[in-house]
Amino acid sequence: MFFRELNLPDDYRSTEAATLVFQEVYGDYSERTAAELIAALSMNHVLHYGCEVYSQLLAVGSLETRFLNDGIVSANNIAVTQRLRSGGVGRQLMSFLEQESREMGANLIRLTALPTAVGFYVKVGYQPIDSKNPLELGKLL
Ligand SMILES: CC(C)(COP(=O)(O)OP(=O)(O)OC[C@H]1O[C@@H](n2cnc3c(N)ncnc32)[C@H](O)[C@@H]1OP(=O)(O)O)[C@@H](O)C(=O)NCCC(=O)NCCS
Repeated sequence: MFFRELNLPDDYRSTEAATLVFQEVYGDYSERTAAELIAALSMNHVLHYGCEVYSQLLAVGSLETRFLNDGIVSANNIAVTQRLRSGGVGRQLMSFLEQESREMGANLIRLTALPTAVGFYVKVGYQPIDSKNPLELGKLL
């Protein structure tokens, strides 16, 4: 499976990735247009990645590098298209993001999990990093 960096907004428009991210990660987004949401994702220090087959994005994720100087990156917007879930794609996506983070010089990748996704992250090696918030997870690289 081949992951690459995505260019916003072009890749999100052409591949309907916006739908994948917004519907599957953020739930109902009917109140906001795709353009508004793309603008919200286009933040400084955030790199977007995805796996594309025949111009359809199958999995996406982003890395926030604001604290890279401290060796920390944050993963966000992780999603695998519904029909491919439970087939190992999410694991490959996380492994790709971890490798990218390592290559950038990070030694910790952290994220805030949705309650429904905690089990997935634990399976791929993430552990709680904040005793007050069980959704805050991290993995040493
Ligand atoms: C969470 C998500 C990315 C997982 O992707 P996936 O491709 O289904 O995951 P994988 O098939 O690689 O699963 C890896 C392991 O985690 C387990 N797993 C997957 N999703 C799980 C979940 N929600 N809860 C518990 N375990 C889960 C799998 O059974 C598998 O275990 P195994 O190695 O023992 O077989 C995907 O379900 C998704 O896009 N969900 C909707 C968006 C979302 O919740 N994103 C996370 C935001 S924080």
